[in-house]
Formats: sequence, structure tokens, C-alpha cells
Amino acid sequence: MYRLLKSAPQVFMEYVKDFSRYLKYSGTLDGTPAQNLLARITATYHNIEKGLSLPQPRLGFGKENLGNLIEAIHKYQRLYGPSHPVLSSAIEVLATYASYHETHDYPDYPCKREILKMLAARPRHPAQMGGTRLVTRERIMQAVSPVSEQFFLQRHSIRAFSDREVDLADIEAAIRVAQKSPVVCNRQSGAVHVIADPELIQAALDLQMGARGFSHAVNKLLVVTVDLRNFWQAGERNQGWMDGGMFAMSLIYGLHLRGLGSCCLNWSKTNRQTQQMRELLGLQQWESIIMLIAVGHIPEQVVVPFSSRKDPLLVTRVITKWQK
Ligand SMILES: Cc1cc2nc3c(=O)[nH]c(=O)nc-3n(C[C@H](O)[C@H](O)[C@H](O)COP(=O)(O)O)c2cc1C
Repeated sequence: MYRLLKSAPQVFMEYVKDFSRYLKYSGTLDGTPAQNLLARITATYHNIEKGLSLPQPRLGFGKENLGNLIEAIHKYQRLYGPSHPVLSSAIEVLATYASYHETHDYPDYPCKREILKMLAARPRHPAQMGGTRLVTRERIMQAVSPVSEQFFLQRHSIRAFSDREVDLADIEAAIRVAQKSPVVCNRQSGAVHVIADPELIQAALDLQMGARGFSHAVNKLLVVTVDLRNFWQAGERNQGWMDGGMFAMSLIYGLHLRGLGSCCLNWSKTNRQTQQMRELLGLQQWESIIMLIAVGHIPEQVVVPFSSRKDPLLVTRVITKWQK
């Protein structure tokens, strides 16, 4: 009863704050601000891209999505200017849609007039921005075969680092890996704030409180955030945590690939603490902090916790027959 009376109001108030922040910045109530609109455009063009990548795309599919996409592109251009990389991707998807239908003798596809008008006005891009591409199994296998399970088993949370400076180019390379994470409707909400100033690293770690005993050796501190403006409606209220977690995991493997040591540092904090961190690092209100990651070079020898894992069978349930 004591715990209930003490903790429940606190938990409730945090939920209220989360709720009002979600309503304020997500695209639930108003999809007009630039980033909310770009997220909608991305989600919509991606639905068409997905349709085009199915084994046998149904001719004439996606009428509603096409209409919504064209309307949203016009709206963005009216309010914020004619060009943006997201618009280029969207228009290239429309081009792929048009050429798929033309080459399959289906010239009367939905929204044809508007699509052709948009294609005629589009600037040319040297690199592909959207649509589909063919990949071969052989190419994937070539990339996969040099990687063994050891790559994953030899990743440890490292809590002691050498004095060697971490090159920002290595962090950039890891961010490229993180950006290849699966992400809801390709909305790309993850971002990394790389802190290189030793004093600011200390101040941020003092707020975080989970790096006691090794904070002094951290060479770079990464703060992984997601953009709340990329989500909308009740069902997506937790989507940012999902996308951010996956982004962070790939980032860690990207650092590991470069031979860097890292340690995740939780951001299990209240809204007030998050606001303190936002002010310290100059984060925007719509940025949710997923976690911090301490980075440094791995010493010649380092002690790590054994961190025993459960037997995989204990976390696996195979359903071979549906018990109706
Ligand atoms: C979201 C998250 C938050 C974490 N926070 C901390 C932390 O604050 N301090 C710390 O020393 N380790 C932290 N860790 C590291 C875990 O303790 C570690 O990943 C776990 O024990 C498994 O060990 P391993 O990463 O070496 O396999 C965190 C890990 C995750 C995924």
C-alpha cells in the first residue's frame, strides 16, 4: 500500500507528461508542420514502394495512397518550397510506379495525369532516390559469409578504454550502419549526438549516473535520439522506442565493426531529468532520448562481466500447430 501511494502518482504524472508531449509533437492532431508532413510522405511513398516490390504487384494498386501522396507533396511544396530529398524519393517512386504500369500494358493506372505532371517538373538526380532495386542472393551471401557468430559473441559492454583518440570518421561509419536498420515505413527517426568535449561528457554522465568508475575514460559519448514528429495516432505512441532501440543496436555493431569498444548507458529517467539533459546538450523538445553510448578504444586486455545468458530454449516457444 505504501509503495502504491508513493509510486503510482509519480508514474501517472510521467504518463500524463508523455501523453501531452506526444500529442504536441507527433502528427496526431496536426500533420501540417514540415517534419510531420515529410514523415507522412515517407510512410505513404514507402507503401507504394513496398507494393512494387511484391512478387507480383497487382496492376492498378494503391489508388488511395497515390492520391494521398500527390496531395501531401503539393501541400509540402506550397508551404515549404519546391524541393526536399524526401520529395525526390517520393517522386521517384511515382516514376517507378508509372514505368511498371507502362511496361505491363496498363496505361490507365490511377492518378496518371497528376503523376506525369509531377514527373515532367522533377529535377534530375544522378543517384537513385527511391523505387525498387534487384538484389541477388549471391551478393547477400558474399557479404554474409565472412561474418561468423563470433562477431556477435565477441561484442561486450566495455567499461575501460585506452587513451587513444576515437576518430570521428569511425563514428560516422558506425552511424551509416545504424541508418541501415529496419525502421517503421522507412521514416528514419534515429539521430546521434556525438559529444567530443571532455567536460560536457562528464556533465552528461553525471546526469546519467550509470558510468560511475569509468566515466573519466570515455572518449566520445553518443546520445541516441528519435524524432517524435515522425509518429502519429495511438498505435504509434511507443514506435519511437522500437525504432530507436534497433538503431542503437546497429550503431553498436557498427562501432564493433570498427574495433571500438562501447557501453550502452540507460536513459531510464523522468521527464524532468530528460529536460535537464535536453538543456545541457541543446536537444529539441521533440527528440526522445533512447540511450547514451560510451565509446573508446579497447585496451589490450579488459575485464568484462560474465553476463550469463539464459538457455535459448528458455526464451523460445515454437508453435507447430495452431490449437484452435
Ligand atoms: C538500454 C541499456 C542500458 C544500459 N545501461 C547501462 C548503464 O547505465 N551502465 C552500465 O554500465 N551498463 C549498462 N548497460 C549494459 C548492460 O549492463 C549489458 O549490456 C548487459 O549486462 C549485457 O552485457 P554485454 O553487453 O557485455 O553482453 C545497458 C545496456 C542497455 C541495452
